[in-house]
Amino acid sequence: MNYIDFFKNELLKFKNDGFYRKFLPIKRSRDIFPLTKINFDSFNNDKNISDNDIKIWCTNDYLNMSHNEQVIDRMVEVIREVGTGSGGTRNISGTTQYHIELESKLAKFHNRESALIFNSAYLANQSTLWTLCKKLKDIQVFSDELNHASLIQGIKNSGAECEVFKHNDLSHLESLLKKYDHDKPKLIVFESLYSMDGTLTNVSEYVDLAKKYNALTYLDEVHAVGLYGDQGSGIANKYGVSNEIDIINGTLAKAFGQIGGYIAGNKELIDFIRSFTPGFIFTTSIMPSVAAASKKSIEIAEQSDFLRKDIHKKANYMRKALTEVGIPFINGQSHIIPLITNSADKTRLYSEELLKKYKIYVQPIFYPTVPKDTARLRITITPKHTYQDIDHLIRSLCSVYNIKRNISHNSFIEKTENLTSVNVI
Ligand SMILES: Cc1ncc(COP(=O)(O)O)c(C=O)c1O
Repeated sequence: MNYIDFFKNELLKFKNDGFYRKFLPIKRSRDIFPLTKINFDSFNNDKNISDNDIKIWCTNDYLNMSHNEQVIDRMVEVIREVGTGSGGTRNISGTTQYHIELESKLAKFHNRESALIFNSAYLANQSTLWTLCKKLKDIQVFSDELNHASLIQGIKNSGAECEVFKHNDLSHLESLLKKYDHDKPKLIVFESLYSMDGTLTNVSEYVDLAKKYNALTYLDEVHAVGLYGDQGSGIANKYGVSNEIDIINGTLAKAFGQIGGYIAGNKELIDFIRSFTPGFIFTTSIMPSVAAASKKSIEIAEQSDFLRKDIHKKANYMRKALTEVGIPFINGQSHIIPLITNSADKTRLYSEELLKKYKIYVQPIFYPTVPKDTARLRITITPKHTYQDIDHLIRSLCSVYNIKRNISHNSFIEKTENLTSVNVI
């Protein structure tokens, strides 16, 4: 077999289908964010765009904690004290006071007994689900059709039987749960906020179903932690059911602005995962400075209701404006606003035009990140985006969508000044 030919052909097919990706090299300087430098030379040699101040509209650094002065100070302080790498797996010299303190903070944050840090939330999902499904023989899994790749991968790798239910459709889920014996081990895997659709989940209804059918629950709160619930502690906490979810998964990498992921739950269950999960056991632990900075970031996020309110108010404002000008979007009532275009080519064109003409960076999202024919521009808002920025984005979108509307500066603000009806946090 000619291996290289095989790889080339596969790539060619992928390119011809329009799904090939180029990564945009960016520099998100602290002092100018959300303005961002983009190195176009190393991207595609496109001389039509110079290295310029571009406004970024697709970051997951939701609270901009990666730029927070206190968080940076804490990270630098710990690096100066103990160096950079941890020097080992958690079992072999890689556990520090910073890891322990972070796990204890995370457990408290989620109102649970225990927490366990992983090198990413992807790894946490994949390896925890793999372990659970392997160890609980004959388990039947129920997974939302829009679940993240890391959840799907964990279930698939384990070889467990899996029923896929329609997105956020509890009656479909119940109809599937009903088919199985009450005593058969079952696991419901779902997210509290779907990152590509921006849809929120009524977590307590899943808890009720799980109890009724004797199932475990695994909840991914990756896009919700820091932004929803009491002190940003997630949507399970918002519904008062944190304690009733068997495993909560979260990330340190989005609203908390660092890197790493975790699970939280009952102490026996977390100890079980700690003891049997290869993706936790056999890898070097996160940098002590990252653990310390993450803890600091969570502490600050807990006290940042004003930032959460600001983001949600701006998201409402943007939804109003999009409705007004007639740009289709998924109305998920969250801080993530996906503009559905359905075609990967069209989405790429829109994104390029926004970048070249209006200095706006929104990454086009298409297969395999989302199902084929559901391509989209996924917009996220941070506290550093202003209402003027939103107006500029809407005007620019109107132009690339070829919508003829004369939108004056701040034209939507009055209509949303008293927006209190959507209280999502
Ligand atoms: C729903 C969901 N879960 C898990 C992850 C993985 O998180 P991390 O970036 O910490 O690996 C992502 C990443 O974007 C995600 O969207």
